[in-house]
Amino acid sequence: MKIVAIDGDRISRRLLSNVLERKGYTVLQASDGKEALRFLNSRSVKIAVIGGPVSDMDMARLVGEIRTQDGINSGQSCLIRAMSRSDKIDILTELELGVDDFVEKPYNPDILYYRIRFGEWSLDPMFENKESFNAINSLFNEHRLLRAMDNIFSIILKDLEKGVPDFVLGWATSTAFTLNFKVHEQKEEILLSTIVDKLVFQHGEGLCDIPKISFERIADEHQKLELLLFEMREIFSQCFVEKERAMATFNKDQFNLNRGELEKNNETAIIDTKEHLNTYFSRHHEFSAPLKTIISQYTGLLRAHLLLEEQHFIPFCKRYFDEEDNAKMAVEFGKIESEVGKHEIEKQSETVFQLSEILLKQEKNQGNR
Ligand SMILES: [Fe+2]
Ligand SMILES: [Fe+2]
Repeated sequence: MKIVAIDGDRISRRLLSNVLERKGYTVLQASDGKEALRFLNSRSVKIAVIGGPVSDMDMARLVGEIRTQDGINSGQSCLIRAMSRSDKIDILTELELGVDDFVEKPYNPDILYYRIRFGEWSLDPMFENKESFNAINSLFNEHRLLRAMDNIFSIILKDLEKGVPDFVLGWATSTAFTLNFKVHEQKEEILLSTIVDKLVFQHGEGLCDIPKISFERIADEHQKLELLLFEMREIFSQCFVEKERAMATFNKDQFNLNRGELEKNNETAIIDTKEHLNTYFSRHHEFSAPLKTIISQYTGLLRAHLLLEEQHFIPFCKRYFDEEDNAKMAVEFGKIESEVGKHEIEKQSETVFQLSEILLKQEKNQGNR
């Protein structure tokens, strides 16, 4: 099998080629980006190891151009980036650039070979649907649910000033807290620690700091989402308490009396009622601005976070996971679901999908009018 060895430095390119040749590969040496693109354009070469920088383009452009060429050829190549401990490379940033995997320098021939084999495997069209990814793939399904939740919040956001019924706000904030934070992100925290363990296991202790630092961004975003969900619940409950207080001053007897008077069109009763309602609405309005800010921050971060995970983090994890990891994760995921209550999760998820569909339909109909 042919492999492209990309490195602008002649000696380190030779070194990489020797390691690959000793593992039985036919190596095409590319000293610059143009040469690398030409080799990869040939259909028989699908895997490249980027050993170091090239003189005619920087790393971002090199990877970007290879990916553009992949798009034109409607195929995918596998790019493995070599890095040394001193490089201080952030894996997530590299993945966003378009790199698929990485190996440590100086090269460990066995690890390099193993990662190339994984690269070949990942190019198989059946790769994505392997049984051994069931646990990871279940996270993708939860992303669909979180997107439906995002639709609901987006509509609430538009209607907030007009006044969203309390039960809708209360339901949305507590459901998002349960489904996003208590279930989904907890499962992903398990995925995070499993992938760090796998990376250390495969690449050795040498690179063990890099994966931890790299995935801090995901963990950070989980914390931020959690904080926003907490704040959202907090503001909502304050708003609810204020409303209760406003309503309490408008006691039941008075309400009944006023209702009777209202029916008789008594002017004093009408003014009295209006005053109370105004008190309530002005207090309610006080909370709509911070609630609006929190919901916008939450939905904005959630959207970016889902994309980062779907496009880069989760596919990368799949390169390192086998059936045993899948089975372990499935057990851990089951524990998280049992703690919250499987039936409760199913019930809430179903409501989210239904409500999101109804609200979107309503919005579409309003737009058509
Ligand atoms: Fe996440
Ligand atoms: Fe996620």
